[in-house]
Amino acid sequence: MKKNIVSLILGSMIILFALQSCEDENENETKISSYNSSESHNTGQDCMSCHKEGGSGEGVFTVAGTVYQSNQTTTYPEATVKLYSEANGTETLFASIEVDQRGNFYTTQQIAFGDGLYARVDGSSGTKYMVSSLTTGACSSCHGNSTDPIWVE
Ligand code: HEC
Ligand code: HEC
Repeated sequence: MKKNIVSLILGSMIILFALQSCEDENENETKISSYNSSESHNTGQDCMSCHKEGGSGEGVFTVAGTVYQSNQTTTYPEATVKLYSEANGTETLFASIEVDQRGNFYTTQQIAFGDGLYARVDGSSGTKYMVSSLTTGACSSCHGNSTDPIWVE
């Protein structure tokens, strides 16, 4: 009888442990936007307010945001966001992220921001460069808040 209780407790501990590691796996899920995908949401919001370590969002994003057309309200599916080591899209390309069908882009890939990376956004007939360097990929923590939304032609 005693033995049964012990194995019951041990058994449930193992199950609990398995459930726990399953949850951690979800947190570390790889999620990267692609031109064809459309499973994102909350356009224009700061994705990382939820998609962060311990946050409610699925996946911890390193870079995420939304791209708009020149009217700054219509989203821009299939634009491309790139991060370079030097200004004006020069030297090393650290990341190239496809904007999805909702105008959102996001990635969980590890990106070494170091002293700062430079953003470039490509539309089908225009390219824009951010002049200052970035040490965070939470683009909509500024764009659409303290500065204009990201837009391209
Ligand atoms: C208010 C919190 C919150 C914000 C802000 C938020 N998300 Fe989420 N996100 C969630 C939650 C919770 C889930 C998991 C449940 C679900 O799918 O709705 C999720 C799931 C996702 C998924 C996975 C869907 C799937 O089916 O695999 C993607 C992709 C995603 N979010 C992208 C984004 C992007 C891009 C932004 C910013 C433009 C963003 N999220 C902003 C909370 C948020
Ligand atoms: C800390 C606030 C902040 C964050 C975070 C930020 N930006 Fe910016 N961004 C700015 C400001 C301010 C400007 C205008 C001055 C400049 O270019 O440095 C700007 C300009 C830009 C421009 C050029 C706009 C134009 O009209 O020419 C692009 C493109 C851009 N950012 C893309 C991005 C992307 C992509 C991200 C995320 C990877 C990002 N930004 C994150 C503040 C931010």
